[in-house]
Amino acid sequence: TEPQTILTERRDRVGLITLNRPKALNALNTELMTEVVAAVKEFDADAGIGAIVLTGSQKAFAAGADIKEMSSKTYAEVVGESFFGAWDELSRSRTPIIAAVTGYALGGGCELAMLCDTIIAGENAVFGQPEINLGVIPGIGGSQRLTRAVGKAKAMDMVLTGRQMKVDEAERMGLVSRVVPTDKALDTALEVATTIATKSAIATALAKDAVNRAFESSLTEGVRAERALFYSTFATDDQTEGMAAFVEKREPRFTHR
Ligand code: HXC
Repeated sequence: TEPQTILTERRDRVGLITLNRPKALNALNTELMTEVVAAVKEFDADAGIGAIVLTGSQKAFAAGADIKEMSSKTYAEVVGESFFGAWDELSRSRTPIIAAVTGYALGGGCELAMLCDTIIAGENAVFGQPEINLGVIPGIGGSQRLTRAVGKAKAMDMVLTGRQMKVDEAERMGLVSRVVPTDKALDTALEVATTIATKSAIATALAKDAVNRAFESSLTEGVRAERALFYSTFATDDQTEGMAAFVEKREPRFTHR
């Protein structure tokens, strides 16, 4: 069955996922979560895809979890169904995911962008964790990933006041990797994804794993893990080819093995 809340497209070695609930500013309901997770899994399992771009509309990347769906839920229901737990599966994708964020990335929308490996933002992008205004708190990793991204003082400020952060502040704080004109955000993200997709897929997955260790371990453990991952690249065809190509002054032809 075709997805109802997203659009998916292949552009050569890049998989593009577009959130598509324009009337609700791409509010994240359960159906959309299920469809995004399935689309990412499918692209991740596809050896022909080397990077994934996730985007929304110019007005909204996503305005948060769907408040209308959520409002009548009870404690027993959210616990019983592990409400929104499936979003965690995005972080298991070996294929890099790049968020192209324009417009509102609020609440679950900000959290979804931070679940991606990097964020390319348009000049009109606005980030925030406004859950506190609804009498709740972030629930898709916002209190953790925002704190790791921008530090405790900014994260407390954002999470406790619910205020919006414009893109210049987000870039200054390191929340986003690049800011480009709003109508160029998707193209830039696709270019970045295309560049990544030309590399060795094995090296890409190991590199992503290594950077992620920085968030999940001590420095000593992280450096040790990196060293083991680095050594393991010498078991790949792509290491042989990549280094031979440099020595022979030619472009590498990675086989992704
Ligand atoms: C459901 C939403 C929505 C949301 C917007 N809409 N955000 N529906 N859930 N999160 C709907 C509106 O109800 C409206 O529908 C339509 O989208 C257009 O929105 P407007 O408010 O009319 O647009 P505008 O005036 O431009 O304001 C944009 C906005 C505002 C500032 C983004 O919509 C807003 O504040 N939205 C909520 C942001 C938020 O609180 N997000 C955090 C959610 S909690 P109708 O039918 O009236 O036209 C969260 C928890 C995560 O994310 C953790 C869960 C585990």
